Order: sequence, then C-alpha cells, then structure tokens
Amino acid sequence: MKVCVIGTGYVGLVTGACLARIGHHVICVDNNEEKVKVMQAGQSPIFEPGLSEILRESIDAGNIEFTTDLKAGVEHGDILFIAVGTPALPTGESDTRYVEAVARGIGSHLTGDYKVIVNKSTVPIGSGDWVKMIVLDGLADAKKQAGEAIDTSNLDSKGLFDVVSNPEFLREGSAVFDTFNPDRIVLGGADPNAIAKMQELYEPIVKRQFAEDQSLPPVPVVVTDLSSAEMVKYAANAFLATKISFINEVANICDRVGADVVQVAKGIGLDSRIGSKFLQAGLGWGGSCFPKDVSALVHTATDYGYEAILLESTIKVNRHQRVIVIEKLQQTLKILKGKTVGLLGLTFKPDTDDMRDAPALTLIDELNRLGAKVKAYDPLLSQSGSSHGLSNVSVETDVERLADHCDALVLVTDWDVFETLNYKRMAELMTHPVIIDGRNYLDRKMLEEAGFQYVGIGH
Ligand code: UDX
Repeated sequence: MKVCVIGTGYVGLVTGACLARIGHHVICVDNNEEKVKVMQAGQSPIFEPGLSEILRESIDAGNIEFTTDLKAGVEHGDILFIAVGTPALPTGESDTRYVEAVARGIGSHLTGDYKVIVNKSTVPIGSGDWVKMIVLDGLADAKKQAGEAIDTSNLDSKGLFDVVSNPEFLREGSAVFDTFNPDRIVLGGADPNAIAKMQELYEPIVKRQFAEDQSLPPVPVVVTDLSSAEMVKYAANAFLATKISFINEVANICDRVGADVVQVAKGIGLDSRIGSKFLQAGLGWGGSCFPKDVSALVHTATDYGYEAILLESTIKVNRHQRVIVIEKLQQTLKILKGKTVGLLGLTFKPDTDDMRDAPALTLIDELNRLGAKVKAYDPLLSQSGSSHGLSNVSVETDVERLADHCDALVLVTDWDVFETLNYKRMAELMTHPVIIDGRNYLDRKMLEEAGFQYVGIGH
C-alpha cells in the first residue's frame, strides 16, 4: 500500500521504517532538511536498536523515501499518518499546534483521491473530529487561494477522506520489536472502509509474519470509535504510571517498616490479576510519554469538570520519589554542601539517549541547590562527547573518573553494564564508598563485599 508518514520523530520514523520493511511504499515527510538528508543517507537520527538496519534494508529495497515536500507525500499516500510531536505546555495541556499545521497542510494538498488520515500522535481526546475540521479548513483556504468560488459550509469530507485514531504503544529502546510484536492494535473511527484499509495495512503484523514468535495467535485488533481509541492511549499510560507510583509508595512504606519491596513485588506480581511487569520500585518514571500523558489526562478531566484525584496522586508520588534519593544521601552523608555525588546513568531509562523528563535532571538541580558537586557517567551520553544541554554536571568518560573523590554514587538508570563494574576499584577511589541504588538493580552482597555501604529504595 502507499503510505505517507508526516513527522519523523521517534514514532513517525519507527512507524515509517517498519511499514516499509513489511513491504509498503512509504514516503516520510519532515520539515527539517538536515534530518531528511541524514535519513536519505540511510542513517537514523535517533538511537533505537534495529532501526538503522531496517532503514537501510528498506532504502535498498526502494520501499522508503524521505522528503521535505508535504505535497509529494500527500499525493503519494493512500494512508497519511500524522506523527508530529504534541509536547506538554506548562499548564499540562498538549501543544497541538504541529498537528494543526500538518492537518491544514494535508487539506491544502488534497486533490480528490480518497485518503485515510491517521492520528498516530498522542492527541487530546476529541482531536479526531478537530483534525477533520482543520483538514477541511486547509482545503477551503487552498481553493480560495486558487480563485475558486466555494461555499465553505458545503465542504464535506465524505468520499474525500476519513480520520482514524491509531495510537502507538512503543517503548523507547524496543520500539522496532514492539512494532512487530504488539500486544494489540487499536483502530478508532466511524468509517468501516477506512478501518478496513488500516486492517489491510497491518495484516502482515497481525499475522505475525515479522514477529519473534510466529506461532502465536494473530494480534488482537480492537476497533473503537475515535474518542475511545484516543482514550485507550492515555488510559494505558496512566495505568502503567500509576502501577509504578503504587509500588514506589509501597517501597516507601517498606523502608519504614523494614520490609523489602523487591520481595513484595514478586509476591504480588505472581497474582495474574496484578502481573509482574512495571513493579520495579525506584526513582520513578520519566521520558517523553508518561509525564506528558498523565498530566494531559488530568487536564482534560479538569476541563470537563472532574477532579482526577488518583492520577494527581500518581504524579505527586512520582515527584516525591526523585527527592527520596536526596533524603537518603542526607541521612548517610549528613551535610551535602561541599560533597561530590556521582550519578551512574543519566537517561530516563536504559537503551536510549533520551533525557526528556529524566529523574537525573531533578537530582542534578536539587544537589546543586544544596551545594553538592555533581559528576555523571552514562554509557551512551558519555561516549557522544556532547553536553546534551546538561549544565552543572561534569560528564565523565569512564566510571573510575566518576568514582574518583566521590562521597557517594547514585544509580539513576539501570543500564546492564552497571551490573558488572569493578566496584572494588571504584570504592577505593571514593572518599566515602556509599551507593544509593535508585533502581534496586544492583546486588547488595556484591557491593558490600566490594566495600560499599548499600542503600536501596524500600529494599
Ligand atoms: C512508555 C510506554 O511503555 C509505551 O507503551 C508508550 O507508548 C510510551 O511510554 P517509554 O516511555 O519508552 O514507554 O518507557 P517505559 O519502558 O514504559 O518506562 C517508562 C518509565 O518508567 C521509565 O522512566 C522507567 O524507568 C520507569 N519504570 C518502568 C519504573 O520506574 N519501574 C518499572 O517497573 C517500569
């Protein structure tokens, strides 16, 4: 099928590359010329395991192209994905101006051939109908500019385009895997033909032709109305964030009563009604999705006269969780002014270079405020040599430099390389061999044998 993906950020690029890999003809449109050039050369502008490989394969197979020309993309695609960012505004609302610009642009380039317009970006509930309105606006403007005398009240999308909501559930660091091995595909829309086209598009994935385990039954496809599909995305992320905040709250109680949250998580997670995933207590959640989506859902609730008490608490627990590490440092080191703290890991989670809403940022700010010096080592960011916009932290090139003259280490990100560092050597280099394991990830016994005082989170 002929597909156009507009926006080659995280979601758009992974979607475009994976659709090309399964045999569709994809044009990816982005207004950033530099980025388009990089992708045309077969390179991925983001770090995502497996993405560069499928990009190059698809370029070689002639299945994917990159351009800044929206008109060419809209003319090419029978299915047009809107995959531009919807960052959070300071109020917590989603900033939908990029979606609006793309929808208007699509409208202005419609020529009469039927299109399915897909909202892949996480957009506020109700955006499906709004996008339809903006596309029609764009179409009306273009017709007026072309000198056509039109009655805008008569413009109708019928037969010209339909809007479908198709939220993504990709995790950074395993986005390619998640695309080919989804738990479900959600399609929201009113028009059965548009839904049928989307089902045809995803058929190879539904039949698990590109899955790790091809013997599994087909991927369930959940067909809903537009608003419900939009809500699925928010509800899924809000639920997962709440699950983490829940276990973090349990961890904080564990700390006080002397229980171990790791054992508790195992004990509750084996209950199939609860499930063992997303019960890892620690510094809390960050990244590009959870913070933005939970806040947006709270905001939507408020707009419609409902106070989302549970979700507000989910956010509150998460905010507090980052500061708990500081409290633990104060308990062990007492005064932090003049002390040096080394952070193991900076990114919001392992296997990504993403620093958006990373707990490390809060820690760096708070430690600086209290007069401590902050050093950090991150397996990915330390190698790239760029400052990543980080200030007030000295990014070290190896872990020995990090440990040198540190008063405490904090494990911020559970990168697997941190499991097997030479902790004995690091303890020798430190002023105080204290380690706060912000992800309950490391082996306490091994660290104590290496000479560390180990402090976990409810563990
Ligand atoms: C998430 C969702 O998983 C994905 O479906 C959605 O499309 C986008 O948001 P992502 O942000 O890539 O994906 O990361 P994820 O692996 O879900 O982790 C989110 C945050 O929660 C990270 O900061 C992680 O460290 C934290 N986390 C996760 C925990 O603190 N404990 C856990 O048990 C799991």
